[in-house]
Amino acid sequence: MSVRRLPSVLTSLEPSSHPYLNGAWTPLLEEVDVDDLQVISGTIPEDIDGIYLRNTENPVHQPLGRYHPFDGDGMVHQIAFSGGKASYRNRFVRTRGFAAEQEAQGSLWGGLADPVHLAKRPGWGAHGALKDSSSTDIVVHAGKALSTFYQCGEGYRLDPLTLETEGLAPWVPIDGISAHPKVDEATGELMFFNYSKHPPYLHYGLVGADDRLKVYQPVPVAGPRLPHDMAFTEHYAILNDLPAFWDANLLERNIHAVRFHEGLPSRFAIVPRMGGEVRWFEAAPTYVLHWLNAYEEGDEIVLDGYFQEDPTPEPHADAQPGYGHMMAYLDEHSFKPKLHRWRFNLKDGTTREERLDERIMEFGMINARHAGRPYRYGYSTVTKPGWFLFTGFVKTDLLTRQSTSYMLPEGVYASEAPFAPRVGSLDEDDGYLVSFLIDENQGRSECVLLDARDITKGPICRIALPHKISSGTHAVWAGRDMLG
Ligand SMILES: [Fe+2]
Repeated sequence: MSVRRLPSVLTSLEPSSHPYLNGAWTPLLEEVDVDDLQVISGTIPEDIDGIYLRNTENPVHQPLGRYHPFDGDGMVHQIAFSGGKASYRNRFVRTRGFAAEQEAQGSLWGGLADPVHLAKRPGWGAHGALKDSSSTDIVVHAGKALSTFYQCGEGYRLDPLTLETEGLAPWVPIDGISAHPKVDEATGELMFFNYSKHPPYLHYGLVGADDRLKVYQPVPVAGPRLPHDMAFTEHYAILNDLPAFWDANLLERNIHAVRFHEGLPSRFAIVPRMGGEVRWFEAAPTYVLHWLNAYEEGDEIVLDGYFQEDPTPEPHADAQPGYGHMMAYLDEHSFKPKLHRWRFNLKDGTTREERLDERIMEFGMINARHAGRPYRYGYSTVTKPGWFLFTGFVKTDLLTRQSTSYMLPEGVYASEAPFAPRVGSLDEDDGYLVSFLIDENQGRSECVLLDARDITKGPICRIALPHKISSGTHAVWAGRDMLG
């Protein structure tokens, strides 16, 4: 394995005992290219052709205050498959904040857990005092990779093959773009939303396959909200107004504290995909980080996602002083997300709800060809109690309501595992789950492929990565035909 290393970025990060700056969350600072990765076991299938992209948070500078893992600088990792071979590269997203801090040789912005006065310069997004690190999510649209930030950043475009940052997506509105824009592979369209502290507080937008903004409309809500994800069907986009949002009284003093308003319903906005009148539906109060999929069925819109039983959990008592709150909000076993189905009846305006699985799981993936359409299979992840670390995968058959799982060995953690359809496949689950692993026992990382038809077999192919990567958030699969 021949590794080409790029010149180092400037760093001021110092060793610490921070729970999310050590172990599987140890930041990776080097950027490399590897043309021909070595296989550890199995063979790289000839029928996987495309790229897996993964965004992560890798802080380059010593934090000004209390580091939160969502503050780190965006780094995109790529493994590219073709002809039974695989290559790898990783690059920081060269955001405007990243460039400013390289020049200043230190942090210029505080983080999510810090008071706003730590920021030395105006920040970005709904919060307003954070750096847009473009580190949350990544999708591929109109032949380009698009990295995004959960607090609504500017949206950065990268060459999906070289990972070179090409600049800001030209169509992003003044209020930015949230993480989790949705690409409909059937039409080539990208749907997005943003949220802010000023009326109308929420917007929906659509960008065509031609990379031009076609729809941008307000979806007014009663005040600042914190939606994290959206969903779509063939004819509609689904935005949300969930009752976990910044405490309005504290927000007047510029303090950003999330409060769960148990007396308020969850509200869902059904927006015509090409814009138009919004219809609202109500449901039981909860918060949802991620949706799995949505589709139309008769008079109903079906939405699947992860219903949180305790959106604002008690701080972890055994955490390092000052970090109990953060540890609880990063621990799925504290906020308890469970696969759940909402049905919105367009004829009579009612909502029906149903729990699909009682297990704690989140970060779900599907065969993206079925996004917005009827589907049968979801692939979720499970986490280590107490930690934001993926320890295994669950495949749910939504038709039979049966599920199967594969759990990683102790001390080995996964990345989000998107579905890569096998070249020429027709069946929904005929393909591979692709994930990067962090092996804390051996201090190294690898890429694994699982046969999505039977994940219980474990990895069918293991490929060595050139360095130990850091844990992170979101990943995507883009087939060769998506790469322009
Ligand atoms: Fe997310």
